[in-house]
Amino acid sequence: MAYLNDHYLKLKAGYLFPEIARRVKVFCEQKPQAANRLIRCGIGDVTEPLPPAVIAALHRAVDEMSRRETFHGYGPEQGYEFLRRAIAQHDYRNRGLEIDDDEIFVSDGSKCDCGNILDVLGHQNRIAMMDPVYPVYVDTNVMAGHTGLADDAGTYAGLVYLPCTAANAFVPEVPEEKVDLVYLCYPNNPTGAVATREQLTAWVNYALRHKAILLYDAAYEAYISDAQIPHSIYEIHGARQCAIEFRSFSKNGGFTGLRCAFTVVPKTLMAATGDGKFTGLHPLWLRRATTKFNGVGYVVQRAAEAIYTPEGEAQVKALIEHYLGNAKVLREGAHAAGLKVFGGVNAPYVWAQSPEGMTSWQAFDKILNEANVVITPGSGFGRNGEGFFRISAFNSRANAQEVARRLQALKW
Ligand code: MLT
Repeated sequence: MAYLNDHYLKLKAGYLFPEIARRVKVFCEQKPQAANRLIRCGIGDVTEPLPPAVIAALHRAVDEMSRRETFHGYGPEQGYEFLRRAIAQHDYRNRGLEIDDDEIFVSDGSKCDCGNILDVLGHQNRIAMMDPVYPVYVDTNVMAGHTGLADDAGTYAGLVYLPCTAANAFVPEVPEEKVDLVYLCYPNNPTGAVATREQLTAWVNYALRHKAILLYDAAYEAYISDAQIPHSIYEIHGARQCAIEFRSFSKNGGFTGLRCAFTVVPKTLMAATGDGKFTGLHPLWLRRATTKFNGVGYVVQRAAEAIYTPEGEAQVKALIEHYLGNAKVLREGAHAAGLKVFGGVNAPYVWAQSPEGMTSWQAFDKILNEANVVITPGSGFGRNGEGFFRISAFNSRANAQEVARRLQALKW
């Protein structure tokens, strides 16, 4: 008899985005006329073409693959040296942050890495989650058997939830109790909030005090427009001793379809063995990559490298400005519709409060059926997301303007 992983059976319904897709499919089948005017502001998937510098790098790399002398087969599992160096130099050392090339691990996505990191962390950790938050952190811990069962609101026994509400500007206080792992995501998905230097310093100090590890998801770092907000957790003194950072090329270079990201694991980061000795996580993460992964394709890594050229940087900046321009249109539109809105300034997500008494899924259904716009219900991100919904700014400007107009035309 073969046994399955029972922990999967604890997962709530479907993963949020497939569940939205399922409901939208039903809507399109039942109302084909309305489906023609559907605008998707649900999943945070980019819509604009890749930057020209990336396209040119892809063409060059494909040509290399066409000749025996320049062909590439398996590459280093942890990423080609040229890309690790470009990342460490441009994203860190040029900003005065001490990160070595070999502390960068190139991967096929931050979503994968956020889940995979659990491979090198113990099962006895007490884990803190922001609430609401990107569902991958919770679900991967459920799959790994780190939780008990969920209640009706999707809150799992065994996790420590850190409420993120309008009252704390969606940045949780450090808890009184001791935890071992803390997931932080800034700029935040889904609320669009950012954490200040003081707030991140409090988290780093907490982690150092408790020998905890911060799992810092900075996938939306490129959207920070406020000069005071840190782009990396390593801007905070002591973070090299207590933080792993996840970064992605999906939301800056538009790589959601190409797949490339990276994770920073400092060699100074230690965790305890079962018998209480401290040892580095870096060799374990390297061992994991070399055992379970064969690396991101050469062509894609050359494309990612092009983001760091002067043309690439300018083109990415223009893309970010485009999406942030959409966020402004959506934020102002939702506000003019009488909704209370957050985010959308340093992030591509606008977080809107549903009118009094309306649940997130009720708001989803109303907006889908009456405005023919897909948004993401806040309750899908956690108990504290109930009563909110997220509007993604990844779209054309014309669509963002149309969504803003339709939201205002709705009778709330
Ligand atoms: C989202 O909509 O939250 C994102 O697209 C999810 C992701 O980046 O995986």
